[in-house]
Amino acid sequence: MSDTATIEPRTKAPAFDVGAIRAEFPILATEMQGRPLVYLDSAASTQKPKAVIDALAHVYAADYANIHRGIYDLSQRASALHDEARHKVQRFIKAQDWREIVFTRNATEAINLVAQCFTAPDLRAGDEILVTEMEHHANIVPWQMIAEAKGAKVVPAPVTEVGELDLEAFERLIGPKTRMIAVVWVSNVLGTVNPVAEIVALAKARGVPVLIDAAQAVQHLPVDVQALDADFIVFSAHKLYGPSGVGVLWGKAAHLDAMPPYQGGGDMIERVSFSGTTWNEIPFKFEAGTPDIAGIIALGAAIDFVESIGIEAIARHEAELLAYGTRAIQQVPGLRLIGTAHEKASVLTFTLEGAHPQDIGMLLDLDGIAIRTGHHCAMPLHERFGLNASARASFGIYNTTDDIDALTRSLHRAAGMFQ
Ligand code: ALA
Repeated sequence: MSDTATIEPRTKAPAFDVGAIRAEFPILATEMQGRPLVYLDSAASTQKPKAVIDALAHVYAADYANIHRGIYDLSQRASALHDEARHKVQRFIKAQDWREIVFTRNATEAINLVAQCFTAPDLRAGDEILVTEMEHHANIVPWQMIAEAKGAKVVPAPVTEVGELDLEAFERLIGPKTRMIAVVWVSNVLGTVNPVAEIVALAKARGVPVLIDAAQAVQHLPVDVQALDADFIVFSAHKLYGPSGVGVLWGKAAHLDAMPPYQGGGDMIERVSFSGTTWNEIPFKFEAGTPDIAGIIALGAAIDFVESIGIEAIARHEAELLAYGTRAIQQVPGLRLIGTAHEKASVLTFTLEGAHPQDIGMLLDLDGIAIRTGHHCAMPLHERFGLNASARASFGIYNTTDDIDALTRSLHRAAGMFQ
């Protein structure tokens, strides 16, 4: 593979046809509690199109062997498909070099890798890692773990009442002790789309490296890692219509080259002896052990699927749903919407007067509607809004205004019961 090789998308984007898209997702034709499934939990995990399910089945039925280890044809084929998936990720996020794409188990593992191998080695007592109050636990706890070990601290930048990052306060918090900045692109609770280009520019101006958690971004908006110019970007396949168990770390080649390995084992070595071991080149240095071969290939199929529809068309469809849904659920008596940022994506988080979010979730479940309830792995953010928990409906490529109408009907019924 050449460093800059890319592969062209196989298909051109047709007109957005949500009916045709729904037909690609077998699970949407199933029932929940004897009712047609209304799936409104895509921020937790998206459902999978036939192309992804078929890719997984096909690998195991026809193309499966361990990769980068066998001289025989089947292993060569599996290796080629796996390598092709890496190139698809490269193309999707517009990375310059396929070696900058590291496969991990999920976005969480990718953040832990950066924390342990990039930030921790140079972290000193008194140093600071700047995050925001709207981070998922995955972008808080790995930093707390290394901070605790080194006597450093994790500093949260505040979020405003409408759920936007207070950018002025954020800027003020970047000081001489700031060693790392880690910010979510799209909040999984508020739906807020953070101004990541401005955040990266602020960090660069002060020479502080930045990690962007794109777990809730890549499925909703175009990502161009070269234009953004952050140091690291992470995301998970399972929120991008791909399989669970696969994540992506994109990092600048110079950083990845300079970092020590994350885990020891097979494939990450160049040479092993009892007198000392040397490391493989990037990205393999960070990919110890047999990876989720079929899952990675299926991530490639998910990217093909998303590109065949077009991320801009997906963003337009979801923006319409968000506007429609925001208007609709705000008519429900006693409903408080959490997060009304100007730039927002695909998430409606709310509370309902007199009702515990868990009760709302159970009631909606009886109507065949799947939403998430609880703290959504963002306890500090809930604390910021004076809440222990909330309910969240989140949209994907396959949702319709009918889904939102079903949600709104059930919420009106819940409001009638609890108030
Ligand atoms: N991070 C996922 C969510 O927001 C699990 O639900």
